[in-house]
Amino acid sequence: MRVLVTGGAGFIGSAVCRHFIRDLGHEVVVVDKLTYAGNLASLAPVLSDPRYFFEKLDICNADAIGAVFSKYRPHAVVHLAAESHVDRSISGSNVFVHTNVVGTFTLLEAARAYLSANKAVRENGFRFIHVSTDEVYGSLGESGLFSETTPYDPSSPYSATKAASDHIAKAWHRTYDLPVIVSNCSNNYGPYQFPEKLIPLMVLNALHDISLPVYGDGSNVRDWLFVDDHARALGLILEKGLPGETYNVGGRNERRNIDVVRQICACLDELRSGKPSHDRLITYVTDRPGHDQRYAIDASKLETTLGWRAQETFETGIKKTVRWYLERDDWWRPLRDNVYRGERLGL
Ligand SMILES: NC(=O)c1ccc[n+]([C@@H]2O[C@H](COP(=O)([O-])OP(=O)(O)OC[C@H]3O[C@@H](n4cnc5c(N)ncnc54)[C@H](O)[C@@H]3O)[C@@H](O)[C@H]2O)c1
Repeated sequence: MRVLVTGGAGFIGSAVCRHFIRDLGHEVVVVDKLTYAGNLASLAPVLSDPRYFFEKLDICNADAIGAVFSKYRPHAVVHLAAESHVDRSISGSNVFVHTNVVGTFTLLEAARAYLSANKAVRENGFRFIHVSTDEVYGSLGESGLFSETTPYDPSSPYSATKAASDHIAKAWHRTYDLPVIVSNCSNNYGPYQFPEKLIPLMVLNALHDISLPVYGDGSNVRDWLFVDDHARALGLILEKGLPGETYNVGGRNERRNIDVVRQICACLDELRSGKPSHDRLITYVTDRPGHDQRYAIDASKLETTLGWRAQETFETGIKKTVRWYLERDDWWRPLRDNVYRGERLGL
């Protein structure tokens, strides 16, 4: 299968490309603008594979996207390109509306034109997987889980633009019969995550012996999923998912932010024995505006209908992740030195 992967140079996109090429044997055409968050070093394990192709493009460029469909004639699209950091969306929402909403619309229209000119591609089971987030559902109280039918109630400019793009993608299925599938996943973590997100930020600040800023009182709960489990879920959804359906993806790993940070400190204490205890660096800072209190995913539809199971627990995944950042300063140091130094965003 030849799959067009947008945002393939990003954190999750690169994990998808590595999995699709090395484990599933798919051909992958990456379409990526290479914003600050895109990094070809994350694709190093597949860059010389003959099944890998790359086009540096903005998904909002309709002509260029149309030309990519004609050139590669993909059997599927997995759409991950997006502006993805909530704090940046608070400081500058314009690019979020542009990429997440207009970019998704542009891709859907290009896919529609491609299918109407190539009926055989549709008959051969073409799929458009729109990759989204659990943040579209808003915030939960102390109990309950997000299901696929939970009403949308986004809080941040990021989640509002993702929600808008989900609605557009679903409407293109209902109105134009485009074979769209939407996935809504919980917080991802793992190797190759850009250092502005909670887990890599804490690991790298701790390695630099500077404070570990926890928003508010640290009680906000996220449901963590190891990135390779998300990539495996998307591979399965592509193979067996049904057009028009939504699948929630999550690993049943709810953790309070403060407990995540403490667990990272405990891993670092173990891996860097002899250093003073890392949790002395924890500091509480002004909360994020509009900070959702709790997210938790019910992934039973994906588990029962497609047979997916998360392979990593938070305990095994966080150890792998912390160890990876300790070993791979060749990957993160250029980003930390030249692109993002750990400063507070989104106040
Ligand atoms: N990170 C998470 O925890 C999480 C959870 C659920 C869903 N998601 C969704 O998964 C997708 C990928 O998330 P991520 O964390 O890997 O993001 P990321 O920020 O690491 O990567 C985004 C990628 O998209 C590219 N990109 C941005 N704007 C573009 C444009 N206009 N044209 C082409 N390429 C562009 C960037 O260069 C980058 O390579 C996003 O759609 C996000 O909403 C993320």
